[in-house]
Amino acid sequence: MANIQVHDKVFEPYLNAEEIQEKIVAIADTLNRDYQHKKPLFIAILNGAFMFASDLFKCINIEAEICFIKLASYKGTKSSGQVITAIGLDTDLVGRHLVVLEDIVDTGKTLDAFLPQLRNQQPASLTIAALLQKPDALLYPLEVQYVGFKIPDKFVVGYGLDYNGLGRNIDRIYKLVE
Ligand code: IMP
Repeated sequence: MANIQVHDKVFEPYLNAEEIQEKIVAIADTLNRDYQHKKPLFIAILNGAFMFASDLFKCINIEAEICFIKLASYKGTKSSGQVITAIGLDTDLVGRHLVVLEDIVDTGKTLDAFLPQLRNQQPASLTIAALLQKPDALLYPLEVQYVGFKIPDKFVVGYGLDYNGLGRNIDRIYKLVE
């Protein structure tokens, strides 16, 4: 498989479509077992997680709901820094079993800032399922219960992940050539 160019950078093949799909089936099998009779609500974070969420949800064979949300971050007026608002989260979360779907957990900053908002609404449980995680890049105390691939701290594109807006449509994952 050949290298590709996205904007000004060259990327090399890293994870192919078959291994991504196999991993998604494995995650779905585990979720089907862990959440049987719990009617989980999957919360997919846009934009990056749309492809992962779609392929994963097709393999979920228990009663389950899904919603798609967008996180908007802006600088707060206080020194506490980043404030995150969720757009599209209009379901009642009290007593629900929540599974947050992310494309990739990098530093963990986004979820660390956002998860307290979910916890405030008293769900019955809250876990994270991410297709990719860069464990070496993690800067926040975040536990990712369901991880597809643990990858080195290298920039990747494809399968929903972008480099400055491009590359999301590729059905496999490419890694930056440095
Ligand atoms: P975090 O808040 O540092 O964990 O970053 C999470 C978000 O950064 C992800 O949802 C992605 O949108 C983006 N991101 C992190 N690493 C990569 C990468 O290697 N390629 C593309 N996007 C990335």
